[in-house]
Parts: sequence; structure tokens; C-alpha cells
Amino acid sequence: MVQPTLVEIATFIRNRFLHNRSALNVTEEVSALGVKLGEGMFGDVYAADWTHPDTGAVVPVAVKLLKNSIANKMNWTYATVYELANHELSCWLEIEPHENVLPIIGFSWVQTEGLPSVPGLVTPRVDRPNIRSVLETEATTFEQRRQIIIQVANGLQHIHSANIVHGDFHPGNIFLHQGRALIADFGLSKVVGASTIVPHQQLRDKDELGVYMNVPELVEFDESDDDTPRPARTQKSDIYMLGKSADYILTFEIADALRYLHDECLNSDPAARPSAEAIALKFHSFN
Ligand SMILES: Nc1ncnc2c1ncn2[C@@H]1O[C@H](COP(=O)(O)OP(=O)(O)O)[C@@H](O)[C@H]1O
Ligand SMILES: [Mg+2]
Repeated sequence: MVQPTLVEIATFIRNRFLHNRSALNVTEEVSALGVKLGEGMFGDVYAADWTHPDTGAVVPVAVKLLKNSIANKMNWTYATVYELANHELSCWLEIEPHENVLPIIGFSWVQTEGLPSVPGLVTPRVDRPNIRSVLETEATTFEQRRQIIIQVANGLQHIHSANIVHGDFHPGNIFLHQGRALIADFGLSKVVGASTIVPHQQLRDKDELGVYMNVPELVEFDESDDDTPRPARTQKSDIYMLGKSADYILTFEIADALRYLHDECLNSDPAARPSAEAIALKFHSFN
């Protein structure tokens, strides 16, 4: 059975959705959950298979469930959990198929131990869902990194042209599949001008990979003043995070060396500068 491409899956799902909204419930088409694939700030992600209802092709998928710990901490009810999944799904579906945007297949009800079923978001499983492990384990050339940046910029442009703010753009949400970069995770997305359902306190200053993502206009406000409106994510905050992500991708191994140079060798205090021997030793330790 020929596997459909990601753009073919996206096109199939979107057409089906335009005809029948309830077609997004793909529970009947998804197998039981297998191994855990990974997790982010909000979701635990498991392997499963989705059977394409027209062609019968069995497509490996990932199913994302909201973490119990988050739902408990936030005192979210099942209604909120459902609303969050539905919100992520509907932002995602605003976006027409694009080769640099991970498609969404739909949601599947998942029975968890002793609890009511929860909705899991179903996406095609990708080869490399973690760009850091790609940079760590493979020697990538400047040209390959340049291509990744061009592709994610193209994907983000496409998302923006659908009037969507991604809202959580960082290297942990850039996946690679069959040599192509894909933007994933619409959990904090919204239509331009709308508010997110996710509370402000979850604006964080660090992503899962430890990259600082302090978007200045989102973090510099007076928390103690209840009258000031909380700053909202915008397409311009996405751009800031795209810039940070591109910086991360370009400088992955040289970032530590640069930090050392700037902090130590270029110190404005002459006494704080290391010896040439120490510099040579330090550069032996970078790889
Ligand atoms: N389609 C997928 N294929 C393979 N792994 C995935 C997929 N989607 C998510 N994952 C894994 O789960 C992690 C969290 O997914 P993500 O959608 O970013 O959730 P969160 O909203 O919690 O950040 C990813 O970093 C990745 O390791
Ligand atoms: Mg994520």
C-alpha cells in the first residue's frame, strides 16, 4: 500500500472536514495507543496507526493527550480539556495544506485508566520530532541549516496568511520529516486579534530545549498592576521567536564558544581576561 504524502493527508482531511465537521472525530480509524514518543510542556504523545478510510493505507501517527498534571494544576474540567483540544484543532484547520506545516488528522477519544475518555490530537508521525537531536547527532552544513530556516519561514508565512498566530514558535516545535522542515504544535495558536484560552501565566521564558524565548513585549509588563491588559501574542511575536529559533539552528555548536569569547576574552575588565593558554584549552573542549 502506497503511503500518502503529508500534503495528500492534509488535503484529504480538509476536504472531508469542509463537507462534514464531525469527520474530525477519527476514533474509529485509529488503533490503540502504543509507546510514548515524547512530551512537551502540555502534552504526552503516543504512537498509534491511522487507517485512511478511502485507500486503506495504514499511516503511523502520533496522538497527543493533555498532561494530567497540567489539567490538575490548572483545575481544568473535562469541558476545558475538550475545549482546548478543539481550539487547537480549529486553528490548525484554518491553515490550508502546506509542505512545511505538519497536518492534523483529527481527534480520537482515548480511554484512560478509570477516568472518562479524553480527546487526543492525531498527527502523522514524523522521523525527527526534535531538531536538537538532529543538530547533535548529524553534521549539518550551513547550507542545510539555511534550507531549514527558509522552509520554516515559508511555513510561518503560510500560517500568517491564514490570519493565525502560531503563539509557540520555538525549535521544539520544528520537526523534520523526509528531509523537510515542518511547523508543529498549535496548542497556543489563535486567530489574529482573538484571545487564547490558555492563561497568561503559561507564557514562559524558556522552551523545552532550554532556549530563551523572552519576547520583549510579552514579558516586560507590570505583573502587579491588574489594570494593565496582559500582552497578547501576535504575528510579530512569532517573528521574534522565528529569529530566536534561526539563531539557535545557525549557531548550535558555536553558541558556547561565542559566549565564552564575549564573556571572558572580550571582557572590558583587563584583569578578568583569561590567558592564551586557557583559551586554547577551552577551545579543545568545544566540539
Ligand atoms: N507527529 C509527531 N511525530 C512524532 N513525535 C511527535 C509528534 N508530535 C509530537 N511528537 C513528540 O511529542 C512532543 C510534544 O509534542 P507537541 O505537539 O510539541 O506538544 P506540546 O504542546 O506539549 O509542546 C514533541 O516534541 C515530539 O517529541
Ligand atoms: Mg511543543
